[in-house]
Amino acid sequence: MAVEERDPHSGYLTTGHEWNGIKELNTPVPRVVFVFLALTFAFSLVYWLLMPSFPVGTTYLKGLLGVDQRTAVTEELRRASASRAAWARRIETADYATIRADPNLMGLVRETGRPLFGDNCAVCHGTDAKGGPGFPNLTSGSWLWGGKPEDVARTLQVGINAAHPDTRASQMLAFGRDGMLSREDVDAVAAYVQSLSDRSVSSGPDAASAAAGAKVFASKCVACHGPAAKGSTSIGAPDLTDAFWIYGGDRSSIRASIWGGRQGHMPSWEARLTDLDRKILTLYVLDLGARAP
Ligand code: HEC
Ligand code: HEC
Repeated sequence: MAVEERDPHSGYLTTGHEWNGIKELNTPVPRVVFVFLALTFAFSLVYWLLMPSFPVGTTYLKGLLGVDQRTAVTEELRRASASRAAWARRIETADYATIRADPNLMGLVRETGRPLFGDNCAVCHGTDAKGGPGFPNLTSGSWLWGGKPEDVARTLQVGINAAHPDTRASQMLAFGRDGMLSREDVDAVAAYVQSLSDRSVSSGPDAASAAAGAKVFASKCVACHGPAAKGSTSIGAPDLTDAFWIYGGDRSSIRASIWGGRQGHMPSWEARLTDLDRKILTLYVLDLGARAP
């Protein structure tokens, strides 16, 4: 039996163990820690009884309270879809003008349109819908196929050069590659097209070329782009006089469009998105354009 010994400095008893003159103090774990442990243990026991806990074969202990996250989620989803159904019906049945004049409905269009656009359209048109080379800016107000809600809805439904039987067909011919125009004529008409939006071309070194290009344009291009080069929304031929370009308005991009032709491809969304989703996207895209600076 060790003799009880008290450490004169701290006042604790020692355990009687000693290593090289260093004595071990007897400092037990404080009572409050034991109380805390006991409380947490009691709590876990109660929690285990009340709430779903251990797996048992193919089932699990369900707990006395009958709490089930799955029914809670189902209930929440049901409530969300009931409230969605109410406003979805209003968007489905109201005409475009009514919806666009209703700030509440437009709020819902913006809220649901943003993720729809992000999931389906942003890969090509960009998250801000401003497009990029080959993919048109949808906020510019300059529309290839028309900017009325019905036009945009139709574009989404059938696509452009898409697999849909009624697809919009966008065919810019390969005038250079297919030998319809000589190299000089392609260069000339490219200069002319650029001069339509960039006045400096007509007074610069390419003035003569642009003037020659005007004749080529009159014979080869007006059928689709129109005599004033303003384009045609019935065949998706772009206005060549504005600042809006799908493929670029610098000389080499314009030349490449004329030399090799362009056939932009936009999928049909009829089979992939519901009528409601397409209507929301139509309104969303038009709204982006209306609010673009
Ligand atoms: C695979 C790429 C791609 C995806 C995805 C895509 N688009 Fe397009 N979209 C295009 C291209 C390319 C054009 C231009 C086609 C052309 O050259 O005429 C276009 C054209 C359009 C037009 C016609 C623009 C005009 O000026 O008339 C609208 C509207 C449009 N897209 C909306 C959408 C919406 C909304 C979505 C999402 C549901 C979407 N696009 C998804 C590639 C895409
Ligand atoms: C058969 C109709 C048709 C004819 C003829 C035609 N174009 Fe086009 N052009 C189009 C269409 C449609 C597009 C849009 C292609 C696309 O969106 O992919 C286009 C696009 C272009 C573009 C690209 C515009 C941009 O925004 O990037 C240029 C430049 C152009 N055409 C110039 C010409 C010139 C010059 C001629 C005459 C030599 C000509 N086109 C003849 C239908 C035509």
